Amino acid sequence: STYLVVMAGGIGSRFWPFSRTNHPKQFHDVLGTGRSMLQVTVDRFAGLCPAENVFVVTNRDYVQLVQQHLPQMPADQILGEPIGRNTAPCIAYASYRIAQRDPQAIIIVTPADHAVSNEAEFRRVMGLAVDAARHHDVLVTLGIHPSRPDTGYGYIQYMDSQSLPCGQLHKVKTFTEKPNLELAKMFVDSGDFLWNSGLFVWRADTILNAFRQYLGDMAEVFEDGAGALGTPQEEAFISEAYARCANISIDYGIMEKADNVYVLPADFGWSDVGTWDSLHRIGQQDANGNMVNGDVLLYDTTGCVIKTPSERLVVVQGLEDYIIAEYDNVLLICKRSEEQRVKEFVADVKAKK
Ligand code: GDD
Ligand code: MG
Repeated sequence: STYLVVMAGGIGSRFWPFSRTNHPKQFHDVLGTGRSMLQVTVDRFAGLCPAENVFVVTNRDYVQLVQQHLPQMPADQILGEPIGRNTAPCIAYASYRIAQRDPQAIIIVTPADHAVSNEAEFRRVMGLAVDAARHHDVLVTLGIHPSRPDTGYGYIQYMDSQSLPCGQLHKVKTFTEKPNLELAKMFVDSGDFLWNSGLFVWRADTILNAFRQYLGDMAEVFEDGAGALGTPQEEAFISEAYARCANISIDYGIMEKADNVYVLPADFGWSDVGTWDSLHRIGQQDANGNMVNGDVLLYDTTGCVIKTPSERLVVVQGLEDYIIAEYDNVLLICKRSEEQRVKEFVADVKAKK
């Protein structure tokens, strides 16, 4: 049957001061919908896979938060990581755990911090990907038509000629994770590339073979202790296993290298809510291009993204293209065009403490 792995262990540092080490972005209602990004993510898959097959992988520090956000989820479906080692170990852990139950399981992997505006289309496309993975030894990624040369994404070039019969799955020719700006511009201009959405579908045996082939050391770590998974020894084994795992993403570790990667072009109103600018882009803007979430009075203000606590009245005059964000006693006021410096601010704040 079909399983879901929700990757919810990132710290979302570009979204500071909202996303904080003790309360990262996936646990916030970033979009102002009344539900956290994690809740919205899990809801999106209702109907695609049974609730007992949903796993959330997160840092041990966030297990309690996950429980609060998903109170129906049994504790043994929340996999706690001792340290953040990026997405490859996260996917390995969940895959070995699921394979133990069902080696032929179809696994959907999703980030916990994306927005999708057309949910019906999302389910339709996911259904196609699940079918493809059931019948073929393929690593499927959903690909998004790029709208700008964003260097934070993976870029996929596919071959028109080699397609799978189910749906419009194309064999991937090149997968380039986070190219530099020059390359990203070339990719977008050429019109032949898609963004990697970070949504993956494959069978358990297919991904485990890929781990053996491309991240052999990591596969060995988990194979050494596979017997401990699902037993009281799991936590101790995982602590030791993660210490032995490389810190690497699935994109660099497997997707760039494997030769059975297929892409399914998808168009369901996808956005990665990774940065303040992305929130400005997808949120509801007023007539002056301001995206406001909070109790705010604006005068002569345009192009701002403002997210402040509802109990605080904020009055702004004369600002253009700024981020104004407050959470938990930290207030950030920063030019939208300088938002990549947020990481630097966070480092300085941490050093000051
Ligand atoms: N459990 C766990 N442990 N989850 C993690 C970890 C970890 O150590 N690190 C990251 N995650 C989660 C994040 O919370 C997020 O939901 C997801 O994994 C992806 O990680 P990001 O850090 O957000 O990756 P990215 O945005 O830089 O790049 C990925 O996503 C892009 C699309 O949004 C890549 O797959 C790119 O190729 C892709 O274009
Ligand atoms: Mg991301």
